[in-house]
Amino acid sequence: MSANFQNFQKGPEFKKIFDVLGDGIFNADFDLWKNRRKIAKTLITHHTFHNFLVKTNCDMVKNGLVPCSIYKRFTFDTTCILVTGFDPGSLSVDLNNIAFMKAMNDAGEVMVIRNLLPQCVWKLQKWHGIGPEKKLRDAREVIDRVIGKYILMKHDELRAKGEKMNENEEEEGVDLLASYIANDDGETKTGLIFYDKFLRDTILNFMIAGRDTTSSGLTWFIWLVVTHPEIEKKIREELKAIISLGEEGDKQRLFKGGELKNAIYLHAALCESLRLYPVPVPFQLKIPQEPDVLPSGHRVHPNMRVMVILYAMGRMESVWGKGALDHLTSSFLSNGGPRICLGKEVAFTQMKAVAAAIIHNYHVEMVKGHEVCPNVSVILYMKNGFKVRIRNRWT
Ligand code: HEM
Repeated sequence: MSANFQNFQKGPEFKKIFDVLGDGIFNADFDLWKNRRKIAKTLITHHTFHNFLVKTNCDMVKNGLVPCSIYKRFTFDTTCILVTGFDPGSLSVDLNNIAFMKAMNDAGEVMVIRNLLPQCVWKLQKWHGIGPEKKLRDAREVIDRVIGKYILMKHDELRAKGEKMNENEEEEGVDLLASYIANDDGETKTGLIFYDKFLRDTILNFMIAGRDTTSSGLTWFIWLVVTHPEIEKKIREELKAIISLGEEGDKQRLFKGGELKNAIYLHAALCESLRLYPVPVPFQLKIPQEPDVLPSGHRVHPNMRVMVILYAMGRMESVWGKGALDHLTSSFLSNGGPRICLGKEVAFTQMKAVAAAIIHNYHVEMVKGHEVCPNVSVILYMKNGFKVRIRNRWT
């Protein structure tokens, strides 16, 4: 993925299965991928998006997560705000059913089924509009309608803001959809229909990339912390040390993004949790364009599919050294190659803010007898959810 990146693409089969993602970055290879990556990287690393990320995250932890404490809804709403600027409002005490969220869940489910069935079977189902393919068709309609509405609303919002946008954007930050529209250089805007399709694919790809990944990562992380009191203790000590000297540490408190930059142990613990439980992206598929030899010595050629199983790789002593299963090794490989996750900073900012809020303020205890195991999916959630009792540490 780094030394001979060009040779390992996702291939046309991937795009067929994940057709709902359109021509977004996840489905793209070669020049199309380069183009998508270049624009996305410029916008996601821009300081105005960073400001927006920090503000949105703080607001959501304070107003949404702490009262409600449900990660999947938290990351769904946060990602939707970061990407489009609009809050779908799934994280409320009455736990509304949000059609957009359900449609994305349904689409994800059918993608898994497509991976398990022979292509001719799911194509036939698609043609007749039956079974899981009917579910996907309905989900797609909802996804297109909601995203279409967001795009129209954003155009209206930007028109209404006019010049004011530049004045406020420094401080308040800017969502990705607004940046895409504002920074369009004509390369993508070759016609309104095509352009809106580009925006639709981009929004959906970012929503898929950002929402369930972070929440599943967080769920397994909190489970690891809860079942390893020595790690919980160290994180609490680190958070206490971060609280400034004049301030009393033993009370309810949320942490600002900037403060958590110094939470080195928390960061390392999250990395290690992702190594041992790479639940957000458990495997990756690559198709060699030319014959090649992998670092393991295995020969591969264009008729082969290379499946990288991250769960196994994160546990190999040959990569991580002896005892890497029992201890935090604090040695996180950063060599992911040119296709490395674009949302790494977004994910860590979110996960650190939520983990710090939970670990500093609450005792989390697993419900006795609750079975923790992964389900079978593109993202590994906990099959039976994560049942816990939560007690405030300070009341
Ligand atoms: C714990 C959370 C996350 C993990 C473990 C993770 C992991 C990954 C991995 C392994 C890839 C490479 C996939 C591939 O080659 O197809 C990837 C790609 C990507 N991720 Fe993440 N991700 C996370 C969160 C996020 C977030 C929050 C965002 C954005 C808001 C994001 C945006 C992206 C994008 C746009 C790509 C495509 C990059 C490309 O193809 O060039 N990710 N992520």
